[in-house]
Formats: sequence, structure tokens, C-alpha cells
Amino acid sequence: MNQNSREHWGSRIGFIMAAAGSAVGLGNIWRFPYVAGDNGGGAFMIIYLVCVFFIVSNIMVAELAVGRRSQLGAVGAYKSISKKWTFAGALGVLSGFLIMGFYPVVGGWALAHVFKSFTGLLNNPAMIGANFDIFIESPVQPLIWMTLFLFANVWIVAKGVKGGIETAGKFLMPLLFVLLLIIAGRSLTLSGAGEGIRFLFQPDWSEVNAGTVLAALGQAFFSLSLGMGCMITYGSYLDKKENLPNNAILVLLMDTGVAILAGLALFPAIFAFGMTPSGGPGLVFVVAPTIFAEMGFLGIILSTLFFGALMIAALTSSVSLLEVVVTYLIDEKALSRKKAVGLAATVMVVLCIFSSLSLGMMQNFSILGVGMFDFFDILTDKIFLAIGGLLLAIFTGWTLKKEDLRDELTNGGQVSFKLFDVWYLMTKFVVPVVIGLVAIAGIMSIEETGVMILGLLIIFVFALFSKKL
Ligand code: PHE
Repeated sequence: MNQNSREHWGSRIGFIMAAAGSAVGLGNIWRFPYVAGDNGGGAFMIIYLVCVFFIVSNIMVAELAVGRRSQLGAVGAYKSISKKWTFAGALGVLSGFLIMGFYPVVGGWALAHVFKSFTGLLNNPAMIGANFDIFIESPVQPLIWMTLFLFANVWIVAKGVKGGIETAGKFLMPLLFVLLLIIAGRSLTLSGAGEGIRFLFQPDWSEVNAGTVLAALGQAFFSLSLGMGCMITYGSYLDKKENLPNNAILVLLMDTGVAILAGLALFPAIFAFGMTPSGGPGLVFVVAPTIFAEMGFLGIILSTLFFGALMIAALTSSVSLLEVVVTYLIDEKALSRKKAVGLAATVMVVLCIFSSLSLGMMQNFSILGVGMFDFFDILTDKIFLAIGGLLLAIFTGWTLKKEDLRDELTNGGQVSFKLFDVWYLMTKFVVPVVIGLVAIAGIMSIEETGVMILGLLIIFVFALFSKKL
């Protein structure tokens, strides 16, 4: 497809909001606080920031450059340079499917909690934990909310890049910021909030080990939507005039800002109410509403706003996940947007139904020892995203020509990118080594050996048969 017939973002701010919409998601508000909580708070935060700004930022710039240069989605971008590399893009599309196999389930929970907060169903602090378990284990309710959530997704993506994704991002992202600011404002002014701030910012290095670094890098990839071709896809809809490194930094800052803001919304309140910060995945759905329920009427409003923010964050991210698959079907299989959305969404609904039921009715049904929900999460979080990032760095540093990259990142010399050489050396030498080591450690740390072997097998099979994709 040539540059003229391909749809493009309508404005710079539109792209930034859409890309930030992809990055800012459940990863920031649902996952970051509990991963930080489980890994020692402040020290995790510092390691996370180092990962984001020194390692993963290079991948962000590389993905945008690869996407814009080729004007093609994840698979096409690789394929247009070398057929041998097609599998790296295909792995990205597969990751998109797998993440979409559980992401809308959590998105549905968030949507349900907006309703539950507003209607006062979360008013009894003593019952919230038990009720949450009953809710996610019940066969019908979560599926209804998930379906509603997916409908919104499909509707936005079907309307296209500019009319759908960009418009949604421009409207929803500022709203998300405002909502989180309100909640963080309340949380920070509670008496006893200082403890939470200390937890978040004061490093306790005694908690740090190799696992912390692994968790931080994995979190950085997931949170910035990297390692699966999402930013390649969004980059492919960018105009040749845009300054890529500047845009990448803005998205990075917004994503990190929201993660910190989410931490500030939760931890001060958690400590102020004498609760524990390491609550695992339930942190946001159990601890947060419990705190709000203690606040009386104001709590009802704050809880509604909080879950509204979570739902918005999830929606703009799952839109980008769906778009990765849709762009692949449009670019490579010549499907119309509507057909591509229909096909991708149908498969996703099926996956989501299974992963939602795997938490309740189908608890006893497992794949290689884990339920569907965890299966999708482990495969992507521990294997595919890191390998995807590694492949992208090798592809960029060792297959693409340095001068082509310079040309792309400076818009043919029109804008300056003073750090180009640093970026290039990092991407070529440092990033692959660091990610490679962390990926190996991550893969070896997977306790479910069967899932690990299957994940590696999938990569192998994709590499063998990639020419067909
Ligand atoms: N970045 C999103 C989040 O933080 C998740 C995501 C991952 C979206 C990969 C797109 C691609 O929740």
C-alpha cells in the first residue's frame, strides 16, 4: 500500500493521545501498583525508571521508525525488508491475540465496578473481597461486562485510525488524567498519607534481586506497548513530517507519569487506612474499593471516577491491541477494515470467554497446568514481549542500514536528532544483550515448564513457516 492511500493520523496531538492511549492501560493502573508493591516499592520504581529511559526507550524509537518507514503494520514492516524476518512480526500479531485473550476480561471487571460503585453495591467494606471473588468466578456476569467492553472496542476500531482511534484518544486521555488527579489529590491529603509516599519513593534495596529487574523490564515492555509491533503499527500511520524521537519521549513521559499518578492515588490511601500494599492482582479491585467504602458518600463518587479511569485506560489500550491484528489483516490479507475487525474480534471473544470462565466454572480445565487466563499472561509477559523486543532491536541494528535509520529519524535531515549515534549504538549492541539476558532469566524463571516449552516451540514453528504469513 503506498503512502497516499494509507490512512494517517490527523494531527500530532491526535497521534500522541492515541499512542499514549495504547501505552497507558491496565499496565499502569492495575498492574504497576501491585508489581511495585510486591517488589519493594521505591527500589522497584528506580529500577523501572532506569529500564524505561535507558533501555526500552530505544525500542520505542526503533518501533516507530520501522513502522513509519515501511508504512506497514507489524508483519509487513519486517517482511518488506526481508522475508526471513516475517516471523518476528507474526509473533507480534500472535501476542496481540493472546493479550486480547484476557485484557478485555479485566476491562469488563473495570466497567462492572463503575456500575457497582455508582449504584452503591460496593458500600460494605467487609464484603468487598469475598464479593469480588464471587463476581469473577460467576459464569455469566463477567461475560456480559466483557461483551459490552468489547463492543466499545470494536466500534472504535471499525471507525478507523483517524475517525475512531484518534478521536477516542483525544477525548478519553485528558479525561483519564483529570480523574486520576482528583483521586490522587484526595489520597494525598488523607492523614497518614506520608507513609505511602515514602513506600513509593524511598528505596529499600534489601528487597531487590534478579527477579526485581526482571519484573521491571517486563512491566516496562507491557506498559509501553512494546515488543509486539503495536508501535510499529501506530508508527505506520504517521506522517513523514513528524519528529519521531520527540514523540516517543512524550509518550514515554505520559505513560510513566500515569503509572506514578496511579501509585499516588493508591499507596497513600492504602497506608492511611492501615492496609497492605502487596495485594497481587486483587489490589485495585479489592483494596481500592475497600478504601473508598470507608469514605462514605465521597467514596461513592471517587470509586466511580476511579473505575471509570481504569476502564478508559483499558479501552484505549485494547483498541490498539485489536488494531495490530486488524492492520495485519488489511495490509497482508487485503481485507476491508470492517471484515478485519469482525474476524479478529470474533476470535478474541472466544479466547476471552475461555479465559473468563477459567477463573470460575472451568477452574479445573487447564492447559499444561495453568488456566487460560494465566496461560495467555505468562506466554506474553514472560516470553513473547521480551523476545519480540529482542528481535526488533537485532533487526533494527543489524539488518536495517544505519543511513536509512538516520534519514527516517531526522526526516531526511529536516529535524535534528543529536543522540542518533548513541541511540544506534545502544540499539545495536547494548539493548539486545540486556534484553537477551533478562529474557533468558525470565523464561527460565517460569515455573510452569510445559508453558515455557510450548512458548519456545511456537517461536520455532513461526520461524520455520513464516513465509506463509
Ligand atoms: N500498554 C498497555 C497497558 O499498559 C498494554 C498493551 C500491551 C497494549 C501491548 C498494547 C500492546 O496496559
